[in-house]
Amino acid sequence: MEKTIKVLMINGSPRAEGNTALALHEMERVFAEQGIQVETVQIGGQAIRGCVACNGCAKLGKCVYDDIVNELAVKFEKADGLVVASPVYYASANATLIACLDRLFYSSHFDKTMKVGASVVCARRGGCSATFDELNKYFTISGMPVASSQYWNSVHGRTPGEAEGDGEGRQTMRTLREIWHF
Ligand SMILES: Cc1cc2nc3c(=O)[nH]c(=O)nc-3n(C[C@H](O)[C@H](O)[C@H](O)COP(=O)(O)O)c2cc1C
Repeated sequence: MEKTIKVLMINGSPRAEGNTALALHEMERVFAEQGIQVETVQIGGQAIRGCVACNGCAKLGKCVYDDIVNELAVKFEKADGLVVASPVYYASANATLIACLDRLFYSSHFDKTMKVGASVVCARRGGCSATFDELNKYFTISGMPVASSQYWNSVHGRTPGEAEGDGEGRQTMRTLREIWHF
């Protein structure tokens, strides 16, 4: 029996149907066509605290703060691929996503080697490349190959839905999914 490929997508935006979500929807459609199972979790509206460096996770095997981060760790362990997506805030990923990813990667101890990672960023105008690099660093310290596309994975738009007009950005998202090999 063929294995079903699973992808977990984490959207750091607080806007449920914002431009970051729009970029992820492009990918979700291609994944569905390819029979890839995808779960998207929107975390941007949640109060996710940062890592407090207590190292309690070394003993517990999970974060001492039992919130969405531990739920995501369970999903991440089962997934073959992870997409992290963020709106650009001050040329960086948004703070909620960074708090989430610091704790997720630090506190979870399952083998992440060869799970495929991809980052998606969304900005009105500037800071996409810096944010893209920032997010890819979680993968490249974890033995995770990074899926690439025909451009650095970004869409442009300010108000929710504006990225609909960024045809090249949306195409980059679709290409990213097409070249995704597991
Ligand atoms: C606090 C804050 C900081 C922002 N900083 C930037 C920035 O540095 N560069 C930029 O191009 N857009 C910036 N933006 C605009 C957002 O990136 C843009 O509105 C984007 O579409 C938001 O994505 P979303 O709809 O998925 O939330 C900022 C928005 C906010 C709220």
